[in-house]
Formats: sequence, structure tokens, C-alpha cells
Amino acid sequence: MSVPPASSERFIGLMSGTSMDGADGVLVDLSGAHPVVLAAAHTPFPQPLREAFGALQQPGDDEIHREALAANALAGVYAECVATLLRLADARPASIAAIGAHGQTIRHRPGLYDGTGYTRQSQHPALLAELTGIAVVADFRSRDVAAGGQGAPLVPAVHAALFGAPDETRVVCNIGGISNISILPATASGRPVTGFDCGPGNALLDDWIHRHRGLPYDDNGAWAASGTVDAALLAQCLTEPYFGAPPPKSTGRDLFHPGWLQTLLATRGNRQPPAADVQATLATLTATAIARDVQTHAADARRLIVCGGGARNGYVMAELARLLPGVAVETTDDFGVPVLEVEALAFAWLARQCVRRAPGNVPTVTGAAGPRVLGAIYPR
Ligand SMILES: Nc1ncnc2c1ncn2[C@@H]1O[C@H](COP(=O)(O)OP(=O)(O)O)[C@@H](O)[C@H]1O
Ligand SMILES: [Mg+2]
Repeated sequence: MSVPPASSERFIGLMSGTSMDGADGVLVDLSGAHPVVLAAAHTPFPQPLREAFGALQQPGDDEIHREALAANALAGVYAECVATLLRLADARPASIAAIGAHGQTIRHRPGLYDGTGYTRQSQHPALLAELTGIAVVADFRSRDVAAGGQGAPLVPAVHAALFGAPDETRVVCNIGGISNISILPATASGRPVTGFDCGPGNALLDDWIHRHRGLPYDDNGAWAASGTVDAALLAQCLTEPYFGAPPPKSTGRDLFHPGWLQTLLATRGNRQPPAADVQATLATLTATAIARDVQTHAADARRLIVCGGGARNGYVMAELARLLPGVAVETTDDFGVPVLEVEALAFAWLARQCVRRAPGNVPTVTGAAGPRVLGAIYPR
């Protein structure tokens, strides 16, 4: 029997989420009880790629060709991120068991059982394998959707492994373009892990500040903090049926795109709120949706552990603390895992699950008929 080399437990995880800001990558050693991150890197999307993926979120002309070109370009961004990780960790491609590459979600329509449901993460994994000389695992969500699940969120298993506690209920919240929570009951209770997408995270915030100030995001939520929440607009936003829908559920930019907000603002006619007030309202919306979900679905939680780029938005974090009295609002930084590494780490772990032919989904989260091996392997 051949013994696998010690290096075979090294994986790379690449995540590019709905914020469309770029790729977050980690090179991680999964051989021990706790993952050891050997390198982390962020490779930003060039603005044309960001725009190309943004356009692909909605129906338009010549989509097949435009999607293929964007996927080719994404493979280039991913390969650059991998090269940076290898350099930082002083590692060779041959020492990496596989790359778990999420791809860029361009459509997410799970939960439709009339033949029109699907989820699509654009990328070119074969090209990435060529460019890196490393096996690539891709298309993590489709199998869960095929099994009747939401295909999302896929991170709760990793959230549970990293942040679960024996004696208290904890909630981990990832604030990416969309926000999602993992509810981790005390492990001693034997209750299952659950979780779902709460609603918009940074996506609408980024769109709004880009449109009005030309900036990619609202650093620390400073612009939001300069505005005043428009209570009427907030109430209007919260009438969106998604917020009250029961889990399992997941969402994306298909729903929470600039047109969603424009439709609400259009009802105000020529009495438009100042742009900074809209930013404040959207940031409070992000926090309110999360806080309501914690209160409704994890009433016994005393700790909310936030990750994703939204953890860097001081305004959103302060709103969460205000809306959740009695709950300690912390970040994964406080638990030794930098906020931008958590999701990438999850895709490294999911890649290992696939390579081992082990399930990656949590059916109590996604609603799938059962545990499934997620992903497709493009060998080295
Ligand atoms: N310093 C910061 N202040 C406010 N928001 C930030 C900051 N850094 C990152 N973000 C937000 O986080 C987003 C990226 O988060 P990320 O976790 O990568 O999301 P996704 O997985 O959707 O790509 C950015 O688009 C921005 O909205
Ligand atoms: Mg990102």
C-alpha cells in the first residue's frame, strides 16, 4: 500500500463571492486537528472583470461568449492568487493536493422543482489546472441543488469545526456581498447545525457608494455613519418577502441588485433621500436582517462571531451590537482566524472532502435530501 506524501494534506482554497471584489485565497495544512494557514492572499478583480460579471447577473445579449471570456479571465486571477500563495509559503505546485475554487456566481435559482432551478458559478477549472499544474475541484454547489437543496450556504460545516463550542450556542455570520449565518448549538446538546442566507451584506452598499462616490466600498462604514437612517425606506426594504421566508433559503444578486433598490426609491418620486442617508439605511438593513434572524432562529445565542469583509464595516458592526443587546458581537479575528480567510479556508476543506469522496454539505442547512460529495475534480 502506498503511503501518501505528508504534503498531500496541503490544500488551496479560493473564494470570490458576491461582492465581486476579487479572489481571497489561503494555502492551508489540513493534516492536524486544526487547520494551519501557511499563506493568505487577496487578488483584486480588474474593473472590467468586475463589470463583466456584474452584467452577467442579469439577462443580456451574447451571454455564452461573454461568460466564457469572463471565466478565462477569472482563471488568470485565480492563477495569480495561487502563485502568490505558493511564493509566500515557499511551496511547489506538486506539494498541493488540490485547489478548491469556488468560481463566480452569475445566477443562483435553487429551490425550483419545475425544471427551471439551477445555480451557476462561472470559471474555467481546466484552464486553472493548466495554469497552475495543480488539481482543481470546482462546481461545489450543483450537486446539493440536484439533491433538492439550496446549494448554499456551504460554509457552516467549517464554521462549526472552527468556532463551535461544547457548552454555548454560537452564531457565525459571514458578511460578504450577501450575508449568511451558521447557527451552532452547543455541541454537547446534539442539536443539528442550521444556517441560511439572511439577505444583502455588502452588495447594495458597494453598488451605492460606487455609483455616488466612485469608491469600491464604504471604508469602515464612515459614509453610512455620516448619514441618517431613513425610517420609511428601511421599513419599505424590510417588506421584501425574502426576509420573512422560512429556511432553508439562499439568495444572491439575482434578487438584491441595484434595480431592487431603485424600484423602492422610485416610489418616492422627486422626494429622494440624500445619498448618505440611503447608505446609512442600507447598512442598517444589513444589520437588521441579521439581527432579526439571530433573534428568531437562535434566541439562546450569546455570541455572534462575524467574518467576511463586512466585519471591517464599523457602522454595521455597531448596528449589530445595538440591535442585539445581551449578545457579544465579535469577529473571527478574536478566535485566531482573520475575517477574510474563513470562506477561502472553507473551500480548501470542501476540496479535501471531494478528494476523499466525503460529503461536504450539511443537509440540515441546505435542505438537500442527504449528505452529498460536492464538486468535480480536474486532475493535475
Ligand atoms: N475596511 C472596510 N470597510 C468596510 N467594508 C469593507 C472593508 N473591507 C472590506 N469591506 C467589504 O467587504 C467586501 C468584501 O467582502 P468579502 O468577504 O470578500 O465578500 P465576498 O465573499 O462577497 O466577495 C467589500 O466589497 C466591502 O464591501
Ligand atoms: Mg470577496
